[in-house]
Amino acid sequence: MATTATHAGGTVEVLHWWTSGGEAKAVGELKKSFESQGGTWIDSPIAGGGGDAAMTALRARVVAGNPPAAVQLKGPGIQEWARQDVLSDVDEVAQKEQWDKVLPPVLAAIMKYDGKYVAAPVNIHRVDWFWANPAVLAKVGISEMPKTWDEFNDDADKLKAAGITPLAHGGQPWQDATIFENVVLGIGGADFYRKAMVELDPNALTSDTMVKSFDQLRKLRGYVDANFSGRDWNLATAMVMRGEAAFQIMGDWAKGEFLAAGKKPGVDFVCAPTPGGAFNLNADSFTFFKVHGADRLEGQKVLASLIMSPGFQETFNLAKGSIPARTDVSLDKFDACAVKSHEDLLAAIENNTLVPSVAHEMAVPRSVRGEFLDLVTKFFNSDMSSVDAVKELAAAVKRAQTE
Ligand code: BGC
Repeated sequence: MATTATHAGGTVEVLHWWTSGGEAKAVGELKKSFESQGGTWIDSPIAGGGGDAAMTALRARVVAGNPPAAVQLKGPGIQEWARQDVLSDVDEVAQKEQWDKVLPPVLAAIMKYDGKYVAAPVNIHRVDWFWANPAVLAKVGISEMPKTWDEFNDDADKLKAAGITPLAHGGQPWQDATIFENVVLGIGGADFYRKAMVELDPNALTSDTMVKSFDQLRKLRGYVDANFSGRDWNLATAMVMRGEAAFQIMGDWAKGEFLAAGKKPGVDFVCAPTPGGAFNLNADSFTFFKVHGADRLEGQKVLASLIMSPGFQETFNLAKGSIPARTDVSLDKFDACAVKSHEDLLAAIENNTLVPSVAHEMAVPRSVRGEFLDLVTKFFNSDMSSVDAVKELAAAVKRAQTE
């Protein structure tokens, strides 16, 4: 498929947090395509998985009245910035190219403010995945991926008894929250997840199901190595690659790392959804901020068109570990993990089991997400009881909502 865009030229400054091996490769494809259209790309990478450092940098740039033209920014954050009147729309491009016809409605809605596109989606990432090294699993006779958290615990106990670190993990708040939300989804199911984590219902937040979820998180804490604290997510992926740990619980950007290191899916590493029979959604998008001057405005249009071109969506997502945001791009060149993601996504839309990730900024306002991350991390790094955790979580969420 050709990577075509309607416009040519322009300058664009792009703020993003794609700095790991797989991420850098993927964003490199965007830069290359943009430059091949005659455009000038100004790269502003802010390292830090999950994007918390990037969002802090963005705030400073907007306050200084000098925002970058395009920002890796997603979910409700798009609406939050739009309400501040600092975004520019690319609706002319979107209408001309009929984006509404090729995007899942749930994604299209996130990209629009006041009915106009202010952002363009690059992908659909799935958050609820186990990644594992099959050779390490084989050492203790595990030949199938776990289907329930109890099965995972049994596997992990076997690995631990054999002196193998069951779970590669990086102790950073967003990573703690990533594993926790997957646990909630597995223990409570999609309806419960929505009630507790999206609607923030106090009864759901303090329910037995939530207590059980914290109990399972406590178990996971017992399966990580001694040096987990502060470790970057891609270093945790590397532990699985090198056979220093068996599993990682992480979104499919981890697959981008395996692929960038030349590892083969189904051979060197295996994937399986974490329990829950649902789909935990995270979608990256570029949001367009108000810039001035014909050259910069042109740059935004070129980038918007390029991001949504079928050829780019294919190339980018092959490197990133995700699947295209466009529904009309063939998955012929994609691996079995991507095909599984796509099938499960369609089933989740059909069965109403598609849920937005809290850790990855798809579900709740930043203030609520912040309280959630703080509490989960506090629990992970202390001996707080699960009963105290649910009480503290409910109180913290309420505080964030009334602030
Ligand atoms: C983003 C991914 C990124 C990951 C780790 C997620 O929130 O959506 O694109 O690879 O963080 O940095």
